[in-house]
Amino acid sequence: MTAAPATPTTTPDAIAAVERDHLLPLYAKRDLALVRGEGAYLYGADGRRYLDAMSNYGVAVLGHADPEYAAALADQLATLTTGHQSFGSDVRAQLLEAIARIAPEGLTRSFLSNSGAEAIEAGLKLARLATGRPKVIAFKRAYHGRTLGALAATADPKYRAPFEPLGLKVVHLPFDDAGALVAAVDDQTAAVILEPVQGEAGIYPASDALLRVAREATRAQGALLIADEVQSGFRTGAPWAMSASGVAPDVICTAKALANGFPIGLTLTTEAVSATIQPGSHGSTFGGNPLACRAALVTLQILESRGLYARAARFGTDLVTRIEGLRSPKIRAVRGRGMMIGIDLKERVTPTLKGLQQRGVLALPAGNLTLRLLPPLIWEETQADELLTAMGQVLG
Ligand SMILES: Cc1ncc(COP(=O)(O)O)c(C=O)c1O
Repeated sequence: MTAAPATPTTTPDAIAAVERDHLLPLYAKRDLALVRGEGAYLYGADGRRYLDAMSNYGVAVLGHADPEYAAALADQLATLTTGHQSFGSDVRAQLLEAIARIAPEGLTRSFLSNSGAEAIEAGLKLARLATGRPKVIAFKRAYHGRTLGALAATADPKYRAPFEPLGLKVVHLPFDDAGALVAAVDDQTAAVILEPVQGEAGIYPASDALLRVAREATRAQGALLIADEVQSGFRTGAPWAMSASGVAPDVICTAKALANGFPIGLTLTTEAVSATIQPGSHGSTFGGNPLACRAALVTLQILESRGLYARAARFGTDLVTRIEGLRSPKIRAVRGRGMMIGIDLKERVTPTLKGLQQRGVLALPAGNLTLRLLPPLIWEETQADELLTAMGQVLG
């Protein structure tokens, strides 16, 4: 044991030192400690205000410290926070009803967990249980999470190599090759898993053709189609990015934005898949706890009542147009789906990220060359103006 510090750990240097000495060294640190949030802004221990253009990798769709969200969580904290799924829960039942209202037709069954990777892990296990088959088909540049099953579906060797051999048999195909997909799906295939919009890869929407072929090939071979909407859920103009293509998956996995920052994972599936599940074949102590359910419930209510789905579509399209309008010599291409925006640069992205942070804007990379924006859906024109001014200065 070490003695308690004489002064609280609040200065940027003190916070950085404690984290450096006590956390596993897993993350490239961004030289900023965040201590408070309000609406579209975050506040650093350095006393500065930052425009949040990343929402913690797509999480904070409602921005920070939203009063309605905070009041609902405070009320739930004072009522009941934890409760196992072997007991019923009023809030969980209300959340399940709210999910049923936004679920694509036929996806009537939910498994509640605590993160994106857990939602994926459950989806993969459901596919194994429902089909009794070993093989999973995923795509190059896909990111599905870091637990061992989700990692097996993730493509990047940087994440996979230290842990191979991975238990799950996964084949990775090019994201735009429908012919390769048809050839690969066979009677040993449990599932095809894909992101309707590849996020970590740099905001690449799947083509409608690929989605249609994935649907037809899996249906023909008795395999499941799993949509990973962990990042794309709730921010492309509708609850699900898949909806735009008209293709209905057998499983949807989501997390991040669903509870606006309270940890939760959701795996949605059909009655047919649910009918293959035996009690005890999967589970989670924290999954479906009343506090997480209340957080998700109030988030879904606010997304709906404030018209944030439609707003995300409109605002995202305008942002893409404005970024293109910068005519920066350093920008190669701009892609967007609602409030998921990828900006390919002609140079490495790290100096741009640092330049934006110095000017009070927090954005994300995707790979080495792409600047990624996942803003809260509550942005107003003022925030777009601030972003464009900073981008103009850094990329001009
Ligand atoms: C598409 C996708 N799937 C899965 C995950 C894993 O989610 P988590 O980090 O909550 O485990 C992520 C996280 O970035 C993601 O973007």
